[in-house]
Amino acid sequence: MMTAPVILLLSGPNLNLSGVREPEVYGHETLTDHVATTTRRAAELGFAVAHYQSNHEGELIDRIHAARGVACAIVANVGALTHTSWAIHDALAAFDGVVVELHLSNPAAREPFRHTSVIAGVSDGLIAGFGATGYALAVDAVAAVLERRGAGRRGARRRGNDA
Ligand code: DQA
Repeated sequence: MMTAPVILLLSGPNLNLSGVREPEVYGHETLTDHVATTTRRAAELGFAVAHYQSNHEGELIDRIHAARGVACAIVANVGALTHTSWAIHDALAAFDGVVVELHLSNPAAREPFRHTSVIAGVSDGLIAGFGATGYALAVDAVAAVLERRGAGRRGARRRGNDA
């Protein structure tokens, strides 16, 4: 039996408080809801989801390393580390698959410190500002990038290497 290719959903600092913290910004859905949305959409498209949440930068990096050669994609909402963590940038750069940067809110429309994403340059694309819906959109984006690369749903090829 073929096993479904795995999408790693990575949730960074404070995402565990989704649904509780600043619901006017981040919505009323919990992280459990977001994982369920992601998993449901992924199953519809033939993917499995592994979810990992941590408030600690190093633990997120360890999880990205563990996804190398295992997951076909990472959907990363690494919270405020998006704006600061060159270490997560480097870990994602070493991941040989699709990377989708994800945000519930639209950081570009918020405070200036959120306007910079240090992981944007190592991501295939960005989904932001659509709240809980973004989790399903991120799975669609993963599927679209894999299709575009001609790698089907199993193959994960390095970003920028599609020649
Ligand atoms: C966020 C946006 C970040 O700026 C913020 O620090 C978060 C959540 C989002 O999902 O909108 O923690 O990543």
